[in-house]
Amino acid sequence: MERLGSVAFGSLLLVCLLSGASALLDTANPDRVCKSCDPQPANCKANECNVNCSVSRPCPSPNVCAAVWWRNAGVVTVETKCHDRTQPLRGVMLDDYSSSDCVLSISNTSPNIRLCACTGPECNKNILLEKPDDRTLPTSEAIGGFRPHQLCRFCDRDFTVCNATGVCKSSCNLSSICENPREVCASAWWRNNGSPIMETVCHNPAVRFHGQYLTDYNNSVCKMKQVKGMEDFYICSCNAEECNDRLYFTDVPLDPRDLEKTLPPLLLVTVVPVLIAVVVLLSAVYYYRVFHQQNLKAPKTKGIDSETCAIIMSDDDRSDSNSANANSLNHNTELLPIQLDAIVGKGRFAEVYRAKLKQGATDESFQMVAVKIFPYEEYASWKTEWEIFSDAELRHENVLQFLTAEDRKMERRYWLITAYHERGNLQEFLTQHVIGWDELCRLGMSLARGVAHLHADRTPCGRPKVAIVHRDLKSVNVLVKSDLSCCLCDFGLSLRLHNSMTPEELANSGQVGTARYMAPEVLESRMDLENIESFKQADVYSMALVLWEITSRCSAIGDVREYEPPFGKLKDHLCVESMKDDVIRDQLRPEIPASWTNHTGVHLLSSTIEECWDHEPEARVTAQCVVERFGEISSAVISPLDTDTKSAQDSGNDEEEI
Ligand code: ADE
Repeated sequence: MERLGSVAFGSLLLVCLLSGASALLDTANPDRVCKSCDPQPANCKANECNVNCSVSRPCPSPNVCAAVWWRNAGVVTVETKCHDRTQPLRGVMLDDYSSSDCVLSISNTSPNIRLCACTGPECNKNILLEKPDDRTLPTSEAIGGFRPHQLCRFCDRDFTVCNATGVCKSSCNLSSICENPREVCASAWWRNNGSPIMETVCHNPAVRFHGQYLTDYNNSVCKMKQVKGMEDFYICSCNAEECNDRLYFTDVPLDPRDLEKTLPPLLLVTVVPVLIAVVVLLSAVYYYRVFHQQNLKAPKTKGIDSETCAIIMSDDDRSDSNSANANSLNHNTELLPIQLDAIVGKGRFAEVYRAKLKQGATDESFQMVAVKIFPYEEYASWKTEWEIFSDAELRHENVLQFLTAEDRKMERRYWLITAYHERGNLQEFLTQHVIGWDELCRLGMSLARGVAHLHADRTPCGRPKVAIVHRDLKSVNVLVKSDLSCCLCDFGLSLRLHNSMTPEELANSGQVGTARYMAPEVLESRMDLENIESFKQADVYSMALVLWEITSRCSAIGDVREYEPPFGKLKDHLCVESMKDDVIRDQLRPEIPASWTNHTGVHLLSSTIEECWDHEPEARVTAQCVVERFGEISSAVISPLDTDTKSAQDSGNDEEEI
């Protein structure tokens, strides 16, 4: 029996060695190294996108490098991978994979998705929207004397700083080949709750654009015309490469080149005196504010003075759903007087700093704020988060309070300015503290409240609200406020589930998040993308893991161990594949030891946590239900004060107790 065992073991070892060696030979070929990243925003300029992927993987034959590209609400997301060229990619058999460039082609199954494949080391590092040789041809000569598809700016709807005067450049830095050869470039400009919006698209003039037939689509420039009967609504169209990038609101039908020539003298005569006047006026206003107003009024918002609230808005203003100012870009030429102090967090796309927002002329008077700084290349992430924060209805005590956004052009950085919470994120907090039952209830319930508010389609006052899904809930993305309640932060991957979202838009929103916290259906990419509830169910799964983390550090469970994140050690980087093995194949979940049943409250809470991380998304309870459960559980448990909190020292470690 023993011999049989050792023979079997020996053969197994041989098979492993042989397959390992052949894999090594195969993967040692540098031609077969491809970028391999889960879906993430790409950095696109003109016709080329850098996929921003730092992971390279050797791909055994018959694999080639591939990329899947899609755009949602103006943000381009790209997934890179090795791909077996004998198999379809997203249901499409790719016929050209021999090119050394990854050139996107439109998938017939979903026109918003584009695919490419290529051969060569990391050839999917950059992806092209069209063949390089086509790009060099003059517009009229491309393919048989005419260009079959126009190239237009295409960011859909976007906030803009354009105020519908003179000539505006779109803030869109994405160009797209129009899908239909009849399509021309079109743009629209309007105001939504006071905030200017610009739309850049490809459009077929045979159909209406914002209710109007386009008549100007043969123009080479996009000359904005006011839509009849609609104040503050302009549209234009044109038929030249990227012609909807420059929008002419001016009445003078100038050729753009003429305009460029006439601009310098024109500038001298008109703009310079106006500029001088503006500078003088601004200085006067600044001195007036600094020297006369600084001591006048008590703060309206907690700790933020009334002067700043002119930009930031007060609590009173905030309850008015029509006032979008609080969340608009800070258009002031005068940027907020902020001094960065120290870095307090580092994320995928940005760094977070603790900073001082000066309140007056002296350095002593300031308000602590947090500044999330995005490099210029991460415009899409900044914009996504800013757009989420721009919804006035998002405001809630368990959602990080947003102050304003700034385009710091001079530093080539984008800023998001929010409230600062000195206790830091929940993971740091749990690492350093053992908590009592009351704190567990406070942290857990406020977390569930924040998620329930995000998911809700009504505000607590009953006003309609767009449901939002976070899609990257984890203890690092939860902040601990000074009163030991939580607030959610980092909305860089969040999605607004507005009613007009097409199944295609939903289907394009893909697998995002952090592998460790991904629900099984997200890991497996088998989410029911047409049902918005399934996005919320995936959030509830991630929330359950955070609730487990909180519970694991509560003295009410008995023996409290050192903080560990769900599914193992902090330092381990868990990838999607290994999480699939644990969460789907073995249906593992974080351990709930028998000792957790000794405390009635923890026992009841554990059952709720288990319901939240059920394998079947539909079986999970909603975040609102978890809020209600917390109410029931905490009132069922009257915790005696002295057994409630247990110091970290008691439990054998030197972590701080609160
Ligand atoms: N880390 C990330 N955001 C933060 C904030 N607003 N306050 C404190 N720490 C943070």
